[in-house]
Amino acid sequence: MNTTLSVIKADVGSIGGHVAPSRQLLDTVSRHVAHGLDGLLSDYFVGSTGDDIAILMVHDRGTGNAAVHELAWDAFRAGTEAARGQGLYGAGQDLLIDSLSGNVKGMGPAVAEFEIQERSNEPFLMFLADKTEPGAYNLPLYLAFADPMNTAGLLLTPEINKGFRFRVQDVNYTDGDRLIDLNAPEDLYDLAALLRDNGRFVVESIWSRHHGDQAAVVSTTRLQNIAGKYTGKDDPVMLVRVQKQFPATGEILAPFGIAHYVGGFMRGSHVGPLMPVPHGTTCSYFDGPPIVSCWGFCVHEGRLTEPMDLFQHPFWDLVRTRAADKAMEIRRQGFSGPAMLPYSELEYGGIVHILERLERRFSIRAARTVEPLRTAESVS
Ligand code: F6R
Ligand code: MG
Ligand code: MG
Repeated sequence: MNTTLSVIKADVGSIGGHVAPSRQLLDTVSRHVAHGLDGLLSDYFVGSTGDDIAILMVHDRGTGNAAVHELAWDAFRAGTEAARGQGLYGAGQDLLIDSLSGNVKGMGPAVAEFEIQERSNEPFLMFLADKTEPGAYNLPLYLAFADPMNTAGLLLTPEINKGFRFRVQDVNYTDGDRLIDLNAPEDLYDLAALLRDNGRFVVESIWSRHHGDQAAVVSTTRLQNIAGKYTGKDDPVMLVRVQKQFPATGEILAPFGIAHYVGGFMRGSHVGPLMPVPHGTTCSYFDGPPIVSCWGFCVHEGRLTEPMDLFQHPFWDLVRTRAADKAMEIRRQGFSGPAMLPYSELEYGGIVHILERLERRFSIRAARTVEPLRTAESVS
């Protein structure tokens, strides 16, 4: 049967700064989404990581469905009212327009959805990251779907051995979706050349080359591009199908053991390690570090199992300790060099005003002419 999985996430308010939503806010959003079970959704799940709430909806209406998107939007509106009522910080932060008609894509919330032909058992993972950008998933996806040093299935399983197609989006282009398809393994170097730039080129989806099925989808909108000003980091969500003709769950999770450096962290303007955390984890040190959580589910005839919290395992405690070390190490150099993002990626405009002011104070010193060196031979 055809099943659509839609995850829509937004930050609509949090306690103690940009830290975590309140219980009341989460309950309000959940109660609202539950109305969808009257004919629209077959199931749903609501969870949070950092200050973001994610609504996972299961239905048969395909991607970009207006009724499904409106349900999520209205749930976030109801959540915003609850957040205002409690005086939460940043209430309604990610809802960039007053009223919605149709699709929430480009309106603030992050969206990742795909329509799949359900296998007889359909395990999948939902990732939710906070204090970072969509390109944060580039490296883990490259390693999981294209590198046999990470994914043994690329060598050992004939269906996986056919490789995967990466669809990459240029997120700086705002007049539409600028996309390129690259095949692994043939186009590996071209893929790496794009994916090194997490701020601009983002993996949007991945497709099996064995049977053409979609394996993964990532939310790729940039709040900064939509709103034209800082409104919070993009905090991307991602869905990944696993096992059999796709990489195994453990192969998808393994690259997160690197806790690689990503853009985001304090004021969306720094570089920090991506720390894998249990769901419901708050933000803390330097408004971070950037965090990612992962829930595992099976979906069967449109119904979800209960979620498994995949970064709760004791293995990840060591990774978290290493990530904390990496975070403190880069913070030791404050604003200097790669610790802070380049000007084009800064989420707050203050420094631009400083530079404009200083621009007027610069002066040009005339180039000095240097006398040629007089040697003994040139004199004689
Ligand atoms: C980063 C983030 C926080 C805020 C910071 C200042 O994505 O959300 O680091 O940028 O706490 O927030 P404001 O400007 O709301 O005081
Ligand atoms: Mg926030
Ligand atoms: Mg957030």
